[in-house]
Amino acid sequence: MSINSVKGMHDVLGEEVEGFAYIENLLKHISELYAYNEVRPPVIEQSNLFVRSVGQSSDVIRKEMYTFSDKGGRSIALRPEFTAGIIRLMVQHKLLLTKELPVKVYYLGPVFRYERPQLGRYRQFNQFGVEAVGNDSAEIDADVIALAYTMLQSLDLENVIIKINTLGDELSRENYKKALKNYFAPFITSMCKDCQLRYELSPLRILDCKVPNDQEIIKKAPKMKDYLSLKALGRFNRLLSLLEALGIPYEIDDNLVRGLDYYSETVFEFHYVSKSGNDYGAIGAGGHYDKLTKELGGPEMAGIGFSFGIERLYSVLKDDGLLELAYANRLDFYVMPLAQQAQDMALQVSIELRLAGYRTDLCFEEAKLPNMFKRATRKQAKYAIIIGEDEIKKREVVIKNLETQKQKNYGIDKLIENIAADLDVHDHDDICLVGKEG
Ligand code: HAM
Repeated sequence: MSINSVKGMHDVLGEEVEGFAYIENLLKHISELYAYNEVRPPVIEQSNLFVRSVGQSSDVIRKEMYTFSDKGGRSIALRPEFTAGIIRLMVQHKLLLTKELPVKVYYLGPVFRYERPQLGRYRQFNQFGVEAVGNDSAEIDADVIALAYTMLQSLDLENVIIKINTLGDELSRENYKKALKNYFAPFITSMCKDCQLRYELSPLRILDCKVPNDQEIIKKAPKMKDYLSLKALGRFNRLLSLLEALGIPYEIDDNLVRGLDYYSETVFEFHYVSKSGNDYGAIGAGGHYDKLTKELGGPEMAGIGFSFGIERLYSVLKDDGLLELAYANRLDFYVMPLAQQAQDMALQVSIELRLAGYRTDLCFEEAKLPNMFKRATRKQAKYAIIIGEDEIKKREVVIKNLETQKQKNYGIDKLIENIAADLDVHDHDDICLVGKEG
């Protein structure tokens, strides 16, 4: 009996691995340009960490967290998101007790949520994100949003919609919650079960409901912007003007409240519908928080961050044909020895090419020429290098461009030099050999 992967989990292989690696490397590179450092927290944390930070009223904690008792009877959870674990890490390692604020980190790895699997929604997926903790200003908000925007631009995702909103400070939010409860009171029994629960636990989250009947009611609900304190409004307006000055387009979405309970003030989401019309949901999201560090035993400090869903980024890039660069690392050469005696030369040439920085593979089995060409094509090599008896005698190789089908002979003595001048290949990275001169 065959055993398949668990529902909602997926294997990443082939092109997808290349695509993920391309996205992740680019996002890492840009994070480093913005002076963020990588951290790697464990996948498992104490369940309590998420309950206290993400919040008991959130769907993630109520329905989606993978929680277990370990053999020592501890309640542990597979992380349903990164932010809580990152703040735990910062507090535990006293990173926030520095004058060099904000502390800026980036992270990457799998995340687990027991959700209903569907397009763009998995039970294990990967996030790449950043958190900047220890500065509370519209400027840091703008810098973090600019970082996300730079990342999306570098991936060539031009038609990203940035939705932005403010949840205001605590007082603004308390007043707004009261106003929402008053407004929804006469309708709530006719609204969906989730909304009825949200009404009790977290009325702002009603604004997130997608049920058509409820949306009609939500349309006329009071707006957060009318309940903002002067300070919260000033901060939000300052952020918007900074984004405008930076040329970052945005849409204000009054109903954007986010599903995790730790947010305050600025919240945002990145949306992108691929050209074929596929909507995978938000490709990334984030916001500001000011209670997390204290809640987790650290100094009281505000932070802001965001996370991208790698699977969703990959899907939109693939749909829109934007993964060309992801495949730039494919084989340059596939070396094909046509006779047993050609094996030595094939090995020698392959190793020489690799040391010069070219991605090279070779055929170790005896196979007929057409079969070797098929292999070269399957491996998506740019060039095939053919070595037969004639070539051995002349100390030459035949190099065939697999796209144009043109071929030419090269002497093996100055092979690397001639290839560099002649062929459309670039060394990936010259290997610096210890002890090798030059
Ligand atoms: P989130 O909105 O829950 O935020 O998730 C961030 C991103 O993860 C989403 O925009 C989406 O791209 C991806 N994602 C979420 N659920 C799934 C799923 N089931 N399958 C595939 N992709 C998914 C957070 O996790 C916050 N920690 C973001 C943050 C960082 N806020 C402040 N700092």
